[in-house]
Formats: sequence, structure tokens, C-alpha cells
Amino acid sequence: MGQAVLNKLIDAGYSSLEAIAVASPQDLSVAAGIPLTTAQRIIKEARDALDIRFKTALEVKKERMNVRKITTSSQALDGLLGGGIETRTMTEFFGEFGSGKTQICHQISVNVQLPPEKGGLSGKAVYIDTEGTFRWERIEAMAKAAGLDPDTAMDNIYYMRAINSDHQIAIGDDLQEFIAKNPSVKVVIVDSVTSHFRAEYTGRENLAARQQKLNKHLHQLTRLAEIYDLAVIITNQVMARPDMFYGDPTVAVGGHTLYHVPGIRVQLKKSRGNKRIARIVDAPHLPEGEIVFAITEEGIRDAEE
Ligand code: GTP
Ligand code: MG
Repeated sequence: MGQAVLNKLIDAGYSSLEAIAVASPQDLSVAAGIPLTTAQRIIKEARDALDIRFKTALEVKKERMNVRKITTSSQALDGLLGGGIETRTMTEFFGEFGSGKTQICHQISVNVQLPPEKGGLSGKAVYIDTEGTFRWERIEAMAKAAGLDPDTAMDNIYYMRAINSDHQIAIGDDLQEFIAKNPSVKVVIVDSVTSHFRAEYTGRENLAARQQKLNKHLHQLTRLAEIYDLAVIITNQVMARPDMFYGDPTVAVGGHTLYHVPGIRVQLKKSRGNKRIARIVDAPHLPEGEIVFAITEEGIRDAEE
């Protein structure tokens, strides 16, 4: 779809795939000033993209079996995740500063590029950085350690710094089109998903507005995961000892900002030295318990005994 048609659709109020999918060809044609046949084609594309039709239970099963996984480079962490980071799913890593969230994001943006037999998807990564903590040097080191050509690995990561929460949401909107054009993207990373929202919407009176905006953003990301069969990874800094004076109730109750969003939530904790502890939260289908991994020069690894 051309940008001009897209703009017309948006101006006419058809700003989401869902809105287009349920429109009538006549309405769409008139509103956007496009030929009826074009409107019909766009509606069909939107429906196909959203996969709007009845599925049989067998198809649902096959879809689940098609879920693919990206290794974290730690067998223990992969095991905790049921084999690795899943496509079609949003995986949240939350934990205090220094717990390893950003390091895992770097590692996955490298590992997604590995061939399937090495635990990757031969894919590319989109990396949305809200805190300015992305380091190409780290990608270079992790790529070398993983046996990838460092320059190629860096070339396969589309990086964007999100300036504020509105920009972050705008990027989410643009990703729809970007990934349609770059189907080799197999993971979208947002590190951190919450920081701009927290910084901009301070105080109790703004909590509802903040949650609403954040939900919109999370919904954008979930849809990408489903439509394009890719993995979405988000991070969320949560204080280890919530200080009530800084009164962020969502943090105080254990960082449940993203509590109701479907996906896998992994809590990270610092342990001794380079060791970190990971634990799955509220996922009945995954094994309970904690595992230990390490952050080394080469990246995420199993912890040595
Ligand atoms: P916040 O973003 O502050 O909430 O923390 P985070 O959870 O993103 O932590 P991050 O992933 O940045 O982990 C930081 C830890 O990773 C550091 O304390 C180091 O132990 C380790 N680390 C970061 N860079 C390197 C590196 O180049 N080499 C090694 N060996 N360890 C590193
Ligand atoms: Mg970080």
C-alpha cells in the first residue's frame, strides 16, 4: 500500500488493521478516494494479516507447534523458558538495575541471527532503546563469541532510540509497515518499555493515563508478534526494595505494571558476582523454580558451579 493511500485511510479514520478489516469496500473506497477493487484488496490483506476466520482446533494446535524459539545462550535459562524465547509471544524481563535485562536484549539480538541448528531463526532484530544503554561494542563481542561475523551481525540489527513515550508509540505504529517490508525481522526488543512512561506520567493522578498509553503500546507489540510470527522482548525496571516515599504503587506491588498483558514474565535478580537468578512469574504452563545464569565477557552463559 502506498503512503498516499495510507494517509487517506488514516485521515478517514481507518488507522488500524482491525478498522480496515471490518470496513465495507464501498465505505473504504469513498472515504479514501480509492477504486473499489483497491479497497477490496486492502480489506482482504488486512483480514489475512489479522487471520480473521474460524480455525479448527487442529489448526490452533499446529500454530502452537509452529512456535519457534531463540536460544539465550544459557541452557539453564532456555530450560526455564521451555526451550528459549518464543515467537508469537511477548516476553518480559523485569528486575532491579544491573540484573541483566539489557544484556539479555543484546544477546537475543545476536542469537536470533544464528541458524536454526544453533538455536536461532536466521533472522534480524529491531532494537528500540529508550534509555540509551545499547552498546555496539557489546554486540560485536557477543557476535564474535557466537561465531558470527561482527559487522554482519551489527548490520542485521535495526536500532532506534525512542526519545519519549509518544515517540515510542509512533515507532510501534511504524513497525507494522517496517516489518511487512522487512520480513526477516524475527525479534522486536524494547529496552525498557516503561521508563519514558514512568518519567512522564508522574503522580497518582496520572497513573490511569499512563497505564492507558502503555497498554496501547503493549497491544501494538503483541499484535506484531502474532501477525508476523516474531518474538517480542520488553524490559521493565523494578526496584528490589520499593521505597514508599518515591511512591510508585505499580513498583511497590512488585512491578505488576504489565500484569494483565498476555505473555511470559521473567523476574531477574542479582546474585553473587556475575551470577543472576531468573524465575518465571505467573505462567502455569512453564515449570516453577529458579535458575542461575551468568553474564560473562562473551555474553549470557550458564553459571559455572
Ligand atoms: P538497568 O537497565 O539499570 O535496570 O539494568 P539491567 O537489568 O539492564 O542490567 P544490565 O543488563 O545492564 O546488566 C549490567 C551488568 O551486566 C553489569 O553489572 C555487568 O555485571 C554486566 N555487564 C555489562 N556489560 C558487560 C561487559 O561488557 N562485560 C561483562 N563481563 N559484563 C558486563
Ligand atoms: Mg538496562
